Amino acid sequence: MSPERELFLSRLKAFGEANDRVAASRSDKMLNITADTGLFLWMLIRARKPRRLLEVGTSNGYSTIWWADALNEPGQTLITLEANPKKVVQARANFKEAEVADRIELIEGDAGHFLRAAETASFDWVFLDSERSEYVGWWPDLLRVTAADGLIIVDNAVDKATEIEAFVNVVQSTPGVRQVLVPIGNGELFIHRT
Ligand SMILES: C[S@@+](CC[C@H](N)C(=O)[O-])C[C@H]1O[C@@H](n2cnc3c(N)ncnc32)[C@H](O)[C@@H]1O
Repeated sequence: MSPERELFLSRLKAFGEANDRVAASRSDKMLNITADTGLFLWMLIRARKPRRLLEVGTSNGYSTIWWADALNEPGQTLITLEANPKKVVQARANFKEAEVADRIELIEGDAGHFLRAAETASFDWVFLDSERSEYVGWWPDLLRVTAADGLIIVDNAVDKATEIEAFVNVVQSTPGVRQVLVPIGNGELFIHRT
């Protein structure tokens, strides 16, 4: 990563933390991933070289910029989904400033709607960082859109563990998937689809 982009990301992170301390409502918060989660998944993207990446929950684009920077193989694509129009505007401005706008397709709208319409096996890397109460309902489509040998990575699996308990149980009872909890940042649940 260039020093300029690294500096931009650390400024964006500081902005998110300061914003979230005073934000009046949850929808005004940025709720960005931790920097070590960003770097860890950046390394994994570089090592695994997924071709089609999907992020559910863009916010102002902090995490998306990490993933965009990790793309260094021809033909890799990155789609990110965000329902909040104000955050879409912020994310687009941040992508432009970080000079990664041309590597990202930001889709404004409901992720559930997107997932229902998406083609089967259309992604080999899915990062899930959105409305946790929706995860159980999204699971059949999340699984369907993930290609064989693909990964689904779920943020907040430690700090919000109780909120995803039902989801973890549904994943646990699904044949053909295995999961492992990585205690980095807010906790990343890795789900591998065989
Ligand atoms: C935790 S934040 C994402 C943070 C971002 N991944 C980062 O680390 O910078 C979750 C985001 O999901 C969005 N969201 C919530 N429900 C959604 C839905 N049904 N469809 C699309 N986006 C949704 C929220 O507006 C919010 O911006």
